[in-house]
Amino acid sequence: MIVAIDGPAASGKGTLGKRIAEHFGFAHLDTGLLYRAVARDVLARGAALENEMVAIDCARSLDPASLADPVLRQAGIGEAASIVARIEEVRTALLQFQREFALRKPGAVLDGRDIGTVVCPDADVKIFVTAQPEVRARRRHLERRAAGDDISYREVLNLIRQRDARDAGRASAPMRPASDAVLLDTTNLDIETAFDAAVGLIKRKIGQ
Ligand code: CDP
Repeated sequence: MIVAIDGPAASGKGTLGKRIAEHFGFAHLDTGLLYRAVARDVLARGAALENEMVAIDCARSLDPASLADPVLRQAGIGEAASIVARIEEVRTALLQFQREFALRKPGAVLDGRDIGTVVCPDADVKIFVTAQPEVRARRRHLERRAAGDDISYREVLNLIRQRDARDAGRASAPMRPASDAVLLDTTNLDIETAFDAAVGLIKRKIGQ
């Protein structure tokens, strides 16, 4: 059983993925961590994020054990990740790890931008989680304030808009819903309601 969850930053896909995996006893992979880790490794080598040769090398030599590094959860690294994520060879280098993960039994939940379209086009359930940029910015702003960051709401909204444009506008595996994905708009949905909707979809698929 493969559950693919895609969507833009702060749409709620990560929380949803984690809860679905816990509920069904499936493995969970936040694929954003892979791109975040590549960005971290590029910066650690003292290179620019736009340095394609270094980024490709970092993706090819990525150590999956380093995905637990708490640095990857820091706010700025999400933006850095979206810069290296534009590079086609970086994406190719990360494919095998994701596809092997997807085969875990009894099931796997992968969340990202291109899971339903590129990584697992044959996933059993595909969900594309969206929400209006202003609502996502409000969520991300609250998270960042809670973490002690005094960034303004306007600035967070600008970052979200920039990232949406970069992720949806790139040539390689752009963020978009697969043609057979179910759209889940969380603009006016709390996490419980979104979770119930997703569980319902999966249960129908399993035939429960
Ligand atoms: O948590 P948040 O939504 O802010 O970001 P993330 O899911 O950790 O992803 C960080 C960046 O990695 C995204 O903006 C994408 O550019 C890239 N990414 C991707 O290209 N493909 C994926 N499957 C997952 C993330």
